[in-house]
Amino acid sequence: MSSPKEIKKITTHTLQQMKTQGARISMITAYDYSFARLFDAAGIDVILVGDSASNVMAGHETTLPITLDQMIYHAQCVVRGVDRCLVVVDLPFGSYQSNPDIAVASAIRIMKEAGGHSVKLEGGEEVIDSIKRIVAAGIPVMGHLGLTPQSIYQFGTYTVRAKEEAEAEKLTRDALLLQEAGCFALVLEKIPAQLAKKVSLQLQIPTIGIGAGGDCNGQVLVMHDMLGINNAFKPRFLRQYLDLETQVTGAVQQYIRDVKSRDFPNQQESY
Ligand code: KIV
Repeated sequence: MSSPKEIKKITTHTLQQMKTQGARISMITAYDYSFARLFDAAGIDVILVGDSASNVMAGHETTLPITLDQMIYHAQCVVRGVDRCLVVVDLPFGSYQSNPDIAVASAIRIMKEAGGHSVKLEGGEEVIDSIKRIVAAGIPVMGHLGLTPQSIYQFGTYTVRAKEEAEAEKLTRDALLLQEAGCFALVLEKIPAQLAKKVSLQLQIPTIGIGAGGDCNGQVLVMHDMLGINNAFKPRFLRQYLDLETQVTGAVQQYIRDVKSRDFPNQQESY
């Protein structure tokens, strides 16, 4: 009798080993079962159920409106599509900033109701007590520094962060604090490549960059951006691997023509 093939699951420890061995970590966002299944089968290391769902799934201008219940729904769908990769779920705006009790309660809901493997939250020193409480509850935490979209109304723009020395120094201090607090990895978003390199070398835990140059220990992209679902969004850091906007539009236009001309369905497509 043949035994079922054992699946080697990616854990936070795997990511740590990858950093130690100099192997790069691949991470992509997903928000539903179907894409999560494809990405997992393709061999991705980490799927992030990002609060970018607020933008790309719900059509909001910012990540602020998405709720914890909505994040749990997206995470439940993703977890059902995954056999192997690590699933990180964003704690949405308002679910952790007010105090550590609320933060740990939100993280527990993600683990219990969605089956997520870990959570991610934005910020440094300001959220350190919440991170410690979540880690103490046995929940792995990924940090997120640099451009933190939940603070967009404080920043005012989505431009590169930490170009000035004072902000770069704070980011470096925050990165070390997040590591000490027990984060297993750190997203560095839209900061100068040199700063990301320095932080990545200083830290023992892996860094995952987006718009942070090639010296982070891994890279993350939003799936809609790298698949070219919205051609109007082409920031410098993005590498677009498909042009789905053009391909999907063309396919649907062909389908409309086929229906209107009565070409579809033909005899082979009928019972
Ligand atoms: O929500 C998200 O997609 C993210 C990535 C941009 C890192 O946080």
